Amino acid sequence: MLLEFNNHGSKSAELAIISSSPEKSTIEENTIVGMEDDFNTILDRVTAQTDELTVIPIFGMGGIGKTTIARKIYDDSYIRSRFDKHAWATISKEYNERQMLLEVVSSITRSNQEMSNDQLMEIVYRCLKGRRFLIVVDDIWSTEAWDQMQRTFPNDDNKSRILLTTRLKYVGDYVSCPDFPPHCESFLTLDDSWNLYTGKFFKKDVCPPLLVDIGKHIVQRCQGLPLSVIVVAGLHGKMNPTYDNWEKVEENLLLGWRMTSTPYLIASLPKQTS
Ligand SMILES: Nc1ncnc2c1ncn2[C@@H]1O[C@H](COP(=O)(O)OP(=O)(O)OP(=O)(O)O)[C@@H](O)[C@H]1O
Ligand SMILES: [Mg+2]
Repeated sequence: MLLEFNNHGSKSAELAIISSSPEKSTIEENTIVGMEDDFNTILDRVTAQTDELTVIPIFGMGGIGKTTIARKIYDDSYIRSRFDKHAWATISKEYNERQMLLEVVSSITRSNQEMSNDQLMEIVYRCLKGRRFLIVVDDIWSTEAWDQMQRTFPNDDNKSRILLTTRLKYVGDYVSCPDFPPHCESFLTLDDSWNLYTGKFFKKDVCPPLLVDIGKHIVQRCQGLPLSVIVVAGLHGKMNPTYDNWEKVEENLLLGWRMTSTPYLIASLPKQTS
């Protein structure tokens, strides 16, 4: 197994997991750490006095927490109570109009798989017309996809909002309006990374003092990327928490860094214990 942590900040800089194991999808839901500033910035935009239908883009590299913050906003009871209708649509790299419509329809009313796209679009439009809605468009990759889908959402100048996540800044720029520039999702602080790591690893127990320094070095190498922290914690979770084991992990991360100038972990990790 090979884990590669590339540089932050560009499309090619996303975290790549070169592995057949599904760490990303099977890692259990973790408690959210940090994100307060991101949350408050987005909250201000969602609740701003602007009447016009407003798109609020959130951009940042893969694994930084865009979907997580969008979900936190979407699930917040105070925010939900301000809107009549709520819908979530996951787009992903290949835009599929039908899938988007089905997701939106099933969020706001009963869906019917038999309906044509035009019928689905009409239902969405009618259900949203005159209502104040909050829609999350998660993980959009192209401006063309946005051009196609935006006509589905009526603008009734009633403070409706669309929260949109993307890895691509130019997509964020394209969909945003001048008063609401795209929000760049922040990396975790070292403290938040540490809390996430120890929370995953030790659950409610505290980290043994002997492992704190070496553990913080390991966490530092994840460069504030939540997904990296979680994946590394997931790998460590399979081995005994001893100083020797953690030292080997740290050495691996350091070795990868020297080889590639990027955080890079060759997961020839110490033998797992079950
Ligand atoms: N602040 C956080 N606290 C705890 N876990 C987090 C935090 N942010 C993200 N995570 C976790 O990190 C992983 C990646 O987060 P998420 O899926 O939100 O990233 P993303 O930016 O949407 O990535 P992608 O571009 O691939 O869609 C998830 O397992 C999520 O639960
Ligand atoms: Mg996402």
